[in-house]
Amino acid sequence: MRRKDGQKKVQGIRSKAVFDCGFRELNPSFKNADRSNAHSVVSMFSGCGGLDLGLLGGFNYKGTYFDVNPFRIEAAYDNLNDAVQAYKLNIGDEILETDLSTVDTKQLNPASVLVGGFPCQDFSSSGPKSGLNGKRGQLYLAMRDYLLDHRPKVFLGENVPYLLKLDKGRHIKKIIGDFEQCGYKVKFWELNCPDFGLSQSRKRVIIIGVRNDIAGFPVRPRGDYEKNFLPIEYAIDDLIEVTDETVVNQSQYFVATKATSGGGQGDHSNVRGNLGYCIRANSRGRIQFHYQLDRRLTVRECARLQSFPDEFVFPFSTQRNLTLIGNAVPPIVGHAIAKSLARFLSGEQIDHDSVMPVIQEVLEV
Ligand SMILES: C[S@@+](CC[C@H](N)C(=O)[O-])C[C@H]1O[C@@H](n2cnc3c(N)ncnc32)[C@H](O)[C@@H]1O
Repeated sequence: MRRKDGQKKVQGIRSKAVFDCGFRELNPSFKNADRSNAHSVVSMFSGCGGLDLGLLGGFNYKGTYFDVNPFRIEAAYDNLNDAVQAYKLNIGDEILETDLSTVDTKQLNPASVLVGGFPCQDFSSSGPKSGLNGKRGQLYLAMRDYLLDHRPKVFLGENVPYLLKLDKGRHIKKIIGDFEQCGYKVKFWELNCPDFGLSQSRKRVIIIGVRNDIAGFPVRPRGDYEKNFLPIEYAIDDLIEVTDETVVNQSQYFVATKATSGGGQGDHSNVRGNLGYCIRANSRGRIQFHYQLDRRLTVRECARLQSFPDEFVFPFSTQRNLTLIGNAVPPIVGHAIAKSLARFLSGEQIDHDSVMPVIQEVLEV
């Protein structure tokens, strides 16, 4: 990226701190939660653990406690070493660095629940849009193979909303068809993350499947903030005066000025009173600017906008940390989905609606 003034690119500030403990050590209620009767979960494409933290529960975000859910991560898999290290630091040792495109899923642990935010680059509106023809677009097949081999009761897939539109719905239809062929009823929910209290503009598609021999379906979660979203300053205003590591990762940001080329994506300034811009994994230094300060958002501010608790430590350089943060499912959204799954699995709340109308509506575009 060139600077406006023609000077050489300025290096981002890097946090030099060495982190020997992260979220799990700093939160006894998370670490010591009794999960002996919890539903076992296998987590694929786990990243740094945003979705898994939401599933597990037992964390604070902006003074609100998100309680412990009855789930236990049996095993987690990702092929990115940064993700594996961050997961171990903050969530647990259950994660293994594994390439899920070549793994023999028969060798993986069985579990009641399979979750996986399969890579979205090939389904994203800002990527090559190669969909199922792309190498990464095929990775959902690891989840399909796991369903065939281990028959979990339910599964949860996560991706970007453009997946629904891509090629007039052909790709989502194929993915859902493949999951159905494994013997599952499948629905998807398009969730607007601000509805759940996220101060960031972000939508995600959640694909839910229930094994055919199990009656009913989980109820689509509803957020409390549908008509009353929480603007960006709700998440990060208290950090304005913090310029050091008294809040971890708050001194870490890109100091680059606005780019003069490239259409300006990522060079916008956030606006007080509005939702924050979407935190992207591939920002390459061009994360949006603060609404009040003359700088880009810090790593911690981005983590806040994704609803990570402040004790969740990102131990790498600015861009490596932002990749993990931008890839994540916001924990508070994961928590709402987890509640729905947990109620369903305990037989408390069951949606008997037909699966098809919502899907058809999109696919007939
Ligand atoms: C969208 S992110 C998932 C983020 C995660 N759900 C969270 O909430 O933090 C997709 C993840 O898939 C991983 N991935 C991509 N290709 C993979 C492969 N072949 N095998 C295993 N993991 C892979 C990436 O490293 C990335 O962490």
